Amino acid sequence: MKTNAEKFGVTPHQPSLWTRADALKVRADDPTTTQPLVSADFPVLSDDVFIWDTMPLRDLDGNVTSVDGWSVIFTLTADRHPNDPQYLDENGNYDILRDWNDRHGRAKMYFWFSRTGKDWEFGGRVMAEGVSPTVREWAGTPILLNDRGEVDLYYTAVTPGATIVKVRGRVVTTEHGVSMVGFEKVKPLFEADGKMYQTEAQNAFWGFRDPWPFRDPKDGKLYMLFEGNVAGERGSHKVGEAEIGDVPPGYEDVGNSRFQTACVGIAVARDADGDDWEMLPPLLTAVGVNDQTERPHFVFQDGKYYLFTISHTFTYADGVTGPDGVYGFVADSLFGPYMPLNGSGLVLGNPSSQPFQTYSHYVMPNGLVTSFIDSVPTDETGTQVRVGGTEAPTVGLKIKGQQTFVVAEYDYGYIPPMLDVTLK
Ligand code: FRU
Repeated sequence: MKTNAEKFGVTPHQPSLWTRADALKVRADDPTTTQPLVSADFPVLSDDVFIWDTMPLRDLDGNVTSVDGWSVIFTLTADRHPNDPQYLDENGNYDILRDWNDRHGRAKMYFWFSRTGKDWEFGGRVMAEGVSPTVREWAGTPILLNDRGEVDLYYTAVTPGATIVKVRGRVVTTEHGVSMVGFEKVKPLFEADGKMYQTEAQNAFWGFRDPWPFRDPKDGKLYMLFEGNVAGERGSHKVGEAEIGDVPPGYEDVGNSRFQTACVGIAVARDADGDDWEMLPPLLTAVGVNDQTERPHFVFQDGKYYLFTISHTFTYADGVTGPDGVYGFVADSLFGPYMPLNGSGLVLGNPSSQPFQTYSHYVMPNGLVTSFIDSVPTDETGTQVRVGGTEAPTVGLKIKGQQTFVVAEYDYGYIPPMLDVTLK
């Protein structure tokens, strides 16, 4: 019998492993892989909404694209509730931290536009209420398809379930701003299958989300990355020699790390439009290392595949740890083998003095990394924080072979276009 990969003319592959030994090399606060401190006096994009995951409009090759000179970003967005009795504490003050922590349950896709690649103006909601089939509109990717302004928004429809979906619309510009039209019919693409990717039935804490479609620069085919967990009942995974890697004496005990089963998934399109997809085995697994490899994405540079994914301290397995931030892996071909960047995988982590300052880093092909501000301490002990829900300062990275270096810091939410498309 042919494997899925063979049916689609794709070379069958073994997932690459992010091992416990690799993760033991993670060093928080290494200046070359640590995000500069974010000051607590940051500006906010909006007093009405929180924003977090930021998705720049781009083409299928990964280039961040403006239209008629307008930059466009999509963001996961939720209302702020400063006057809602539900979010007042016992002294009648707004409990912004609780409001912020509840945001995932009411996440909706919004867009913003700008002439300068920063100072974003509010565009509004992408889909009208009732269009998306589930409660939550979670992360994905807006793709500019052509110079007619057609946009395919791939995203995750969550609760009930988690389905990778797409909705087509159009970006329209005037001298004064940008609007989104259409985005009325959501097409379900696929869900976890329980054979390669874990389902909700196998694990109530499963992850299956964050589609990132792309055209492979080498074979020209349409693929999609996404976040998953390795299939199987929760607790049934084995953390064996391969997952442990080459650890020093005394580091063989894996504790309860079998519960951490993150992977970076990949699917190949059966058609040119990306309406019909076939899931393939994961590109990368982190069994015994970490439970979440979120928002996976690529930078194609120097003929190599730089695979980036965000992860958290709290999702690491027993005996390994690292900061919240973006991790990376590099290969000479799409299906690997992938090697962790900087030996460990860590590319840009939060400083240990401000462990939650930023998250959801997105590395663009020009080496710029955007992220959002989560919370920044306002006192010495770190017990008082200022909640962000806004764009963080952009960081500049140099990517060289198997290493990366932090080399620059830019303004808040600086996401300059790499290409401009004049709409017909
Ligand atoms: C990353 C993330 C995504 C998910 C979204 C939900 O910050 O966890 O994986 O789509 O946030 O709010």
